[in-house]
Amino acid sequence: MIDGKTRLCGLIGNPVEHTMSPVIHNTLAEKCGHNLVYVPFQVEEGRLAEAVKGACALNVLGLNVTVPYKSAVIESLVETDELAAHIGAVNTLVRTDGGYKGYNTDMTGLYRAMTGEGIRIEGEEIILLGAGGAARAVAYLCGAQKAGKVWLLNRTREKAEQVAEEVNGAFGRDVIVPMLLSDYQKLPDGKFLAIQGTSVGLAPNTEDVVIDDAAFYRKIHTGFDLIYRPFTTRFMSLVQEAGGKAYNGLKMLLYQGIIAYELWNGVEITEEEAGLVYEKLRQAMGLFA
Ligand code: ATR
Repeated sequence: MIDGKTRLCGLIGNPVEHTMSPVIHNTLAEKCGHNLVYVPFQVEEGRLAEAVKGACALNVLGLNVTVPYKSAVIESLVETDELAAHIGAVNTLVRTDGGYKGYNTDMTGLYRAMTGEGIRIEGEEIILLGAGGAARAVAYLCGAQKAGKVWLLNRTREKAEQVAEEVNGAFGRDVIVPMLLSDYQKLPDGKFLAIQGTSVGLAPNTEDVVIDDAAFYRKIHTGFDLIYRPFTTRFMSLVQEAGGKAYNGLKMLLYQGIIAYELWNGVEITEEEAGLVYEKLRQAMGLFA
């Protein structure tokens, strides 16, 4: 029941009509018995600052931020969490007295998704594919969570080198080793956790994959693709065919939402509740497929 006490949360971005975040937050509100609704807002180019200010004036409790505003929104915040400030991207705004504080729950969500599957970052040897916005954030997460070494493979060498320089500088050690994607045969021996952070393989181009060589996949004990559409990417299939375990990005999506919800409402979501939301997300994905 929407009444005089209903709190509002939402998503700002452009476009927003394919978002699954309303499924996450409205399900959680119902399960937790919170009087809260979550709505997507399409914000036109040049109107971001106005939108954040307006949301604050309207007493909006919290906002998620998506493409293309994750970096630009930082200017409109009163405070930014340390990891999010390092990454330079914010996906969650939490209301405080003077305005909104920004967080990056994409990364804390990825970490929670991985931990939940028993995947460790600390001390691990990691292959990270990509050096775009998403992969760059993963590189920071790996630095923050004390990864052993991260072999960062990217098609464009300069971008890999730039991410390595930034992240290694931020953590004061050579955690990221930049490499050209086509040099993957020069990777050291051993077994790796591989995180697929490029946009290659995303629907509708479901047959695409950055590396298509069985020998590469034999180096991978666990593959984590940030993509969740399709549910099983070609990268994941290749990892599985070589005997490794493979995960998609749907639990990352789930936990970025759950952590945002926890920040907005000052609650802890149980694994049982998370499981219910995950099932709803899977159903919703079916509708979009
Ligand atoms: P996102 O925000 O999803 O990270 P992005 O910042 O545009 O998107 O980054 C896309 C990533 O996918 C980059 O690492 C890009 O490689 P380049 O830095 O060389 O552009 C990678 N990528 C995209 N298409 C690719 C392709 N066909 N082969 C290899 N890498 C590709």
